[in-house]
Parts: sequence; C-alpha cells; structure tokens
Amino acid sequence: MNILFQVCVGVFVIANICSVATSDAVCEDEYSDYYNSTLEVYKRTLDAWNKDLLTITALHYPGGIRMSNKFPSPTRCGSLDDIGLVAPREPDLLSTNALVHLTQSDFVYGTFIIISPGTYVLSEDIVFEPNPNYDWFPRSNQADKYPGASAIPGTSDKVGPYTMGFFAAIAVASDDVTIDLNGFTIGQSEVHALQQRFFAVIELGNSPFIASQGPGNFGSTFVAPRRCKIHNGTLGRSAHHGIHGNMGTDIQLHNVVIRDWEVAAIALNGFRRVRITDVVAYMKKDIPVMSPYSQIRFIRQFVKLTMRKDVQEIQSNSSRPLVLKFSSSHPYRGNEELTGQNILDNLNSVLQPVLQKAMMGFPSGWKDEIYQNHPESAFLINAEGKVDGTPYGMLIGMAGVQVHGFKTPEQTQNRRSSDVFIRNVTVYNLRARVNEVIGLSTYLSERDKRVTQADYAGAIFVFGEDFGVSDKEGYYKGNALSDAHAYLNTFTSSIKAVSDRINSTDALLTIPDELVDAWIRRGSKTNMEIVEESNGNYKFACGWDDMRHVIKGLMGMRIEATDRIRVENVVFDEIINTSPTSSHKYCGSHDHTVNSRADTVHEDVAPTTFGFVVAATNDVQVRNSYVRDLASVNGDIIQWSTSRTESRGVQLDLSSVFDAMCSAPSPADSSRVFPNKPVVRAFPFEFGFPLDNTNGAGLSFCVERL
Ligand SMILES: *[C@@H]1O[C@H](CO)[C@@H](O)[C@H](O)[C@H]1NC(C)=O
Ligand SMILES: *[C@@H]1O[C@H](CO)[C@@H](O)[C@H](O)[C@H]1NC(C)=O
Ligand SMILES: *[C@@H]1O[C@H](CO)[C@@H](O)[C@H](O)[C@H]1NC(C)=O
Ligand SMILES: *[C@@H]1O[C@H](CO)[C@@H](O)[C@H](O)[C@H]1NC(C)=O
Ligand SMILES: *[C@@H]1O[C@H](CO)[C@@H](O)[C@H](O)[C@H]1NC(C)=O
Repeated sequence: MNILFQVCVGVFVIANICSVATSDAVCEDEYSDYYNSTLEVYKRTLDAWNKDLLTITALHYPGGIRMSNKFPSPTRCGSLDDIGLVAPREPDLLSTNALVHLTQSDFVYGTFIIISPGTYVLSEDIVFEPNPNYDWFPRSNQADKYPGASAIPGTSDKVGPYTMGFFAAIAVASDDVTIDLNGFTIGQSEVHALQQRFFAVIELGNSPFIASQGPGNFGSTFVAPRRCKIHNGTLGRSAHHGIHGNMGTDIQLHNVVIRDWEVAAIALNGFRRVRITDVVAYMKKDIPVMSPYSQIRFIRQFVKLTMRKDVQEIQSNSSRPLVLKFSSSHPYRGNEELTGQNILDNLNSVLQPVLQKAMMGFPSGWKDEIYQNHPESAFLINAEGKVDGTPYGMLIGMAGVQVHGFKTPEQTQNRRSSDVFIRNVTVYNLRARVNEVIGLSTYLSERDKRVTQADYAGAIFVFGEDFGVSDKEGYYKGNALSDAHAYLNTFTSSIKAVSDRINSTDALLTIPDELVDAWIRRGSKTNMEIVEESNGNYKFACGWDDMRHVIKGLMGMRIEATDRIRVENVVFDEIINTSPTSSHKYCGSHDHTVNSRADTVHEDVAPTTFGFVVAATNDVQVRNSYVRDLASVNGDIIQWSTSRTESRGVQLDLSSVFDAMCSAPSPADSSRVFPNKPVVRAFPFEFGFPLDNTNGAGLSFCVERL
C-alpha cells in the first residue's frame, strides 16, 4: 500500500481517538440548541467521511502524495531555515506636545478627522451618531470638511470620501498619531449602525478606498498614515470594521477590545510594519438587517437625481419612459404605475418600520412584529441575525478592496503588505449565513464583455427569488428595491449625462429593455424562460453576495498578499457557518464559473468554514495558535488552507488543526467533536495531530504532491 493510504490511516486514527474519548451523552449535554439541531448532520458527515475519504484523496491528489520531514512538533515544510519571530520595532512617534482630549462633543457633527500629529485621548465613552436630523448623512454645507458630502450625486466638486456617509468615527489622515482609548469605548449607536452600514470605528486613512476604487468616485487623493498607535480601550459597535485601512506604515495596535463588528475586527490592506498585540475581538451577535437595507439607503439619492428637472428633460427627449408602468396582464402588479416619487416613497416606507425598532433599541419580538404588520419590509429583516456577506476575524491583504476572489501573487504586485507581527489575539463568535444572490449577467457588445448587473451604489440586480423578487416559478413580484432598479435602469444614460460620478463607474444598470419588458413590466416570462430564449446573451450570475462581491466563505483569518508575517498565541474560537449551498436551480452543479472581474472559479464555497487562509503570501509562521469550534452546517471545514492561490514558506504549528477538529485544547473542552472531513489542498502542506489533548504535543508531517 502506498503512503497515501498511511496518511488516511493516520487521519482515521485521530478521528477514532476523538470519538472514543467522547461519550455521546456528554457531547449532547454540551451542545447548545444549535449544535443539537445539527448533531445529526455531524454524525452523518463522520460516516460519510470514513466512507469517502479514499475517493476524496484520489480526486484531489490524483498523482498520489509523499509524506516526509517527520519531526516532533512543530515541523516545517519548504524552507527549513528558522526565520524566527521578529517583531517590528516599536515606531518612534514624533515627539509632539500636542495632546487632544476627545469628548462626545467632538463627534456630534461627523467623523473626527485627525490631520496633525499628536496624542488623542478619549475622555469619555463616545457613541457615534452624527446628524440624526439630516438622515445621518453629512450636510451639504459640510462639504469643505467632508468631501463628497451631498445628498444628490452630481458634478465632480461633489465627489469625495464622504460620498457614502460618515464611514468612520475617527479617520487618521496624519502621521505620528497616538490614539489612547484611555479605558473608554467608542462605537456607533444602534441607530447609526443601522443607518450607516458601511463603517469602521477607526479608519487608517482619509478615505475608505484608495484612488479609483469603491462604489462611486471617492476622489483621487489618498492619504495613508505612518506611525500610528492605538491602545488601551474598546472599539465598540460597527456595521463593518473595528479598524480598517489601506497602505499605512508602522502601525501598532495594543491592548484593545474590538467588539460588535459585523464584517471584520481588523482589516489592513497593503500595510507595512504592523504590530498587533493583546487584542480580544468578537462579532456582533444579532445583526438586524440584510444588505438591501443599506442599498436602499444609498440608492435613494439616485432616484432623487432622476427627478431633477434637467434629468427629466433629457429623459423625455430620449423617448425612454419616465415612469415604471406594469401592464394590465401582470400577474402580481397589474396596471401599477410608479413615478420617481412613488419609487422614493416606497423605499423610505420599507425602511421606516425597521428604523423605528432600532430607535426603541430593537425590543424583543421586533422581527415578528415587522413580519406581521409590515410585510413589505420583511425582506430587509435578518432572520438568523448572521452576517450575509463574507466576514473575517482578521484580514491582512493587499492595498485596495477585498471584494474579489483570492489573488495570485502576480496580481498583487506593488500592493502587498509586509512585516506583520500578531501576538496574543483572541477572536471569537464568528457567525455567518452568507447569502448568495442570483444576479443577471449580460453581454455588452460595445465592450465585448459580460457584466453582472448592479446598481450605481454596487447592489446586485436580483434576477432570482431572493428577497421575494420573483415567485417560485420565476415570475417577477418585486420589492421596493427591485422596482427602483427597474425604474433606474431606464434612466442610466440620462443620469450619465449629468453625473460624472456615475459616468466614471463601470457595469451599471444597463439591462436591455426587452428583458425588463418581458420579466418586469409585463410579467409574461419567467427568469428561466428569458435565459433559455436568449441564446446565451443572458445568464444567471452566481457566486455573488448582494453587493456583487465574490463569496469566499467564512474565515477566521485571511492572510493574503503579504511578505513576512508572524502569528503567535492567536486563538480563533467559534467560527460557525450556516450558509446554504449554492442555488443549484439557477447555477447548475457545485462547480461553476463566476462571471467575475476576478475570474474566480467558484466551488460551493459559501458554506465553507475556514480557520486560517493563506494566499499569495511568502514567509508565514503561525505558532501556538488554535482554531477551534469550527462548524459548517452545509459544507467543509478547512482549518488551514494555503490552496486558494500559491504561497511560499508557510509554516504552521499544526497541533491547531486537529485541536480544531477535535476541539480539544483543554481537557474541559475535549468532549466536543466536529467530525467534518479535513480538506488538505496545500502543497507542501503540513498536518499533524496531538498525542495528548492538553498541550498540543504531537507528530506532524510534511505532505507533498508527487
Ligand atoms: C436534542 O435533540 C434530541 C433529538 O432530536 C431531543 O430528543 C432532545 O430533547 C434535544 N435536546 C435539547 C437540549 O434540545
Ligand atoms: C496604556 O498602554 C500602555 C502601553 O501601550 C501602558 O504602558 C499603560 O500602562 C496603559 N495605560 C492604561 C491606563 O491602561
Ligand atoms: C494577552 O492579552 C490580554 C488582553 O487582551 C492580556 O490581559 C494578557 O495579559 C495578555 N497575555 C500575555 C501573555 O501578554
Ligand atoms: C430637449 O429637446 C428640446 C426640443 O428639441 C430642446 O430644445 C432641448 O434643448 C432638449 N433638452 C435637452 C436637455 O437635451
Ligand atoms: C461622461 O463621459 C464621457 C466620455 O468619457 C464624457 O465625454 C462626458 O463629458 C462625461 N459626462 C459627465 C457628466 O461627466
């Protein structure tokens, strides 16, 4: 028998150790309702695992594998050089006498932008909720301070980082800054976290996007901070990130709790010399709404724009319709006629009941109350309370947005992160139910390319059943947002004539009229019929979340496009993914290609739970770190992946992998079993298992593909 078989035997043995050490009774006592409800799934998975492991290995490693470098733990693959853990030295902050005390009053009218060196000390807890009487947006008369502040998107003097509202409580746009949280907490109010869903408590930079990125024009001047330290306190509620930024240098984060974020505790893109120590982070527990809530907030300004006199005139001259008119034979919407004002009113009125609940602090039972009394708002409610996009505990990646697929090393040149040191960090309670939203891809002949249709603020044009947009058969029913998309689609060229913000953005609502007529206005064809009759012109677009971002699963830590990173004493705990599998009805089998700019080959990745993911990275060491309590109801658990794209010099103390599977870093925890199959796709790949459950000591191996 070959080595492959021995590896399998090894794995079987581990599974058995875990199972034997675990009495089912103890197990079931320990399972919460959630685990109880999925225990059967796990048991079935274990059986299936034992049965299909040989099939799986044959599939993934057709040439066989070789096991070598048998060491006592920790072991190494690839380079045997001991690179050692080298912390970047503490940045020297410029000595400046500037000492600024921050109080609530500094945040009443918007983001506190730090533009000069100094130490900024919180003097009290800060609850961020500026401009509640201006729909929580920057006022247009604040545009000098907050470029982009403008309710109506228009000419170039209106573009800028604040185009999508107050994206941070503090924006660091200066070198040599210390933010001393001084034991206090700063975060969004419950209401602000609802109204401004695109947010970081601290943004490292003057804008959330580097030049030329982002859903809109965020301006061309990007300022990244050098020498910034944030320490000693709590970053509270945030609809996206605790800390987010691009291209900073010499950044330190020490002794900070980051709680109640929804997308990532820390996301640093294209940073050099970062030191993150003594951090505890956990995700928000009950996320109130699905992403259309935010999309409606942003799209309203474009509906308003269509109602402007000049746009109406351009539209009239173009002989395209000024209203969205359904035909009398429409099965759901017969004879309805919606003006821009109607569309806008409908958008506002579906938001209103949810906003009211937020103002009451989301009293218990609020979701049921909305389902019963405001069914038109039901599509906005996040029933499970889990994030519906791709979240991370921590993300270190390349400069710019992380919304596409994993990058190859070549795609990351000049934008990589480097010299990152992370020690003593605990991240827990990561939960996701990633929502794949079926979109529409059309072929644009003038540009000879396919695009997945999305609105001017990035929201996907829903072409499936999501959010009740169509019925089970695929006939259009619509909701306030999809009606707005249909209406705006007819205005795209008129809007482009007046708004350089839109004019400069790619792939907008450019849906052919014939499709809108048949599917939406007449309701005479199902989405399937339209695709089938189109000779390949129209396709269902799969693998996207609702913001047209590539779905990548749930990750404890994503390390991508980084040179030299050390991760030590880091724990990711409770990473639970309840995402459904891909919508096979529209998307075919598991393996389908996303029509994405990133050209990602998409597997059924939404339900995948990852511990560490390393992609396009060189020289990584992860030591004495654990991922534990990983769960996926419908997919794989991959505790450690280097397989998405090529990485080099990756070293992991893999006791963590099997601790994750057996979830046994301490005897008290040893009763939990997550018998999902480990998926090993990285070569060379290290794997190992503990000989005893208490200290991680064990054997580990280097596995190479033959
Ligand atoms: C767990 O599930 C079993 C079988 O479905 C049921 O009998 C038991 O009462 C459940 N336990 C809890 C704590 O819900
Ligand atoms: C703040 O953090 C520094 C180190 O970054 C530490 O020396 C100091 O004692 C802390 N102060 C408080 C009040 O926690
Ligand atoms: C780890 O960080 C926590 C704060 O998050 C701190 O209390 C603890 O002392 C740190 N442990 C070590 C060994 O530095
Ligand atoms: C619309 O058409 C009228 C009549 O041809 C013309 O006078 C006017 O300038 C046009 N308006 C726009 C915005 O193109
Ligand atoms: C839109 O783009 C076209 C082509 O680049 C340009 O000629 C036109 O002036 C732009 N319109 C606006 C309003 O910026």
